[in-house]
Amino acid sequence: MSRSIDLAVIPGDGIGQEVVAQGLKVLNAVLPQDVKLETKEYDLGAQRWHRTGDTLPDAELEALKNHDAILLGAIGDPSVPSGVLERGLLLKLRFAFDHFINLRPSKLFPNTATPLAGRPDIDFVVVREGTEGPYTGNGGSLRTGTPAEVATEVSVNTAYGVERVVRDAFERAAARPRKKLTLVHKNNVLVYAGHLWKNTFDRIAAEYPQVSTDYLHVDAATIFFVTQPERFDVIVTDNLFGDILTDLAAAVTGGIGLAASGNINPTGAFPSMFEPVHGSAPDIAGQGKADPTATILSVALLLRHLGYDTEAARIEDAVSADLAERDGGTARTTDEIGDALAVRVAS
Ligand code: NAI
Ligand code: MG
Repeated sequence: MSRSIDLAVIPGDGIGQEVVAQGLKVLNAVLPQDVKLETKEYDLGAQRWHRTGDTLPDAELEALKNHDAILLGAIGDPSVPSGVLERGLLLKLRFAFDHFINLRPSKLFPNTATPLAGRPDIDFVVVREGTEGPYTGNGGSLRTGTPAEVATEVSVNTAYGVERVVRDAFERAAARPRKKLTLVHKNNVLVYAGHLWKNTFDRIAAEYPQVSTDYLHVDAATIFFVTQPERFDVIVTDNLFGDILTDLAAAVTGGIGLAASGNINPTGAFPSMFEPVHGSAPDIAGQGKADPTATILSVALLLRHLGYDTEAARIEDAVSADLAERDGGTARTTDEIGDALAVRVAS
């Protein structure tokens, strides 16, 4: 059987260009001979917007639908008004392709800095809902700009939306060695949404007797992320809590240069999109200083999503080994890190 991957590539802005080149380098190195990799680059981001005023034209949205997956670098530049590209491109893609799973693994790799004492064993994954909660734009303001301004930002939670993300999280927990799933919400105060989440979680838990379950309020969860991160295996939570918790998770596991993510539509109806958590880092763009590891780990998530588990594991093992042997004294360039990982995955 001949296998193939048809990949859309959006390098985007700033260091996005630099790190995506390394991600593709490692992808090419890890794939077996019989897998045909086709890539098509899309020119989207700040430069395009300056040139044409386009963020994500319909024709390109349509074209993107036909790929197996999307690899994205980063979008955003200080020269573009804040929100234009984030909403017009990133959020538009996530909603249009119904990326209801935002997957962010957190692992403390060897030889990396953590602000936590005693180097706890951290290896968990946050399954964040990606299409609902307070991020749907359901709100508005009255008497805007006056002292009597009223602003609402409604959190949208549907039985359908909660069930599909909770089910996905149970599947992921069941497939991991520890088989533990923690629901994070705030159902003591946010009672309507909280009860929908908790009831759905408890109902589906009965179908997964092999998965042990736990519930934490989000404020307590932030304490345990710092004091006892080893208690977590898989976490499922809503869009806003997940956004905040995953930044904290990145901070306790060695920072932004290593944090990978996937915006996933598990049904396969639309392509899923994989990207480093970091942005375009205008402060270091063009200097070869960006760490491409987060992008390379995002490529591993992409491969696992497409069923290339062996190749995904090879990348993750290569990153572990590379960090373990890293010489703290000399900073390597973006290219050097990409080369080192490409050599490791190929051998
Ligand atoms: P940022 O993540 O781009 O940078 C924050 C800090 O981390 C900077 O000091 C940067 O140099 C450093 N950093 C980031 N990635 C790094 C890497 N791979 N290696 C070494 N150092 C790294 O966040 P910031 O500065 O808030 O945003 C810059 C632009 O990126 C903005 O336009 C923002 O909207 C956009 N952005 C885009 C995202 C995306 O495309 N998904 C996500 C976050 C921000
Ligand atoms: Mg965030």
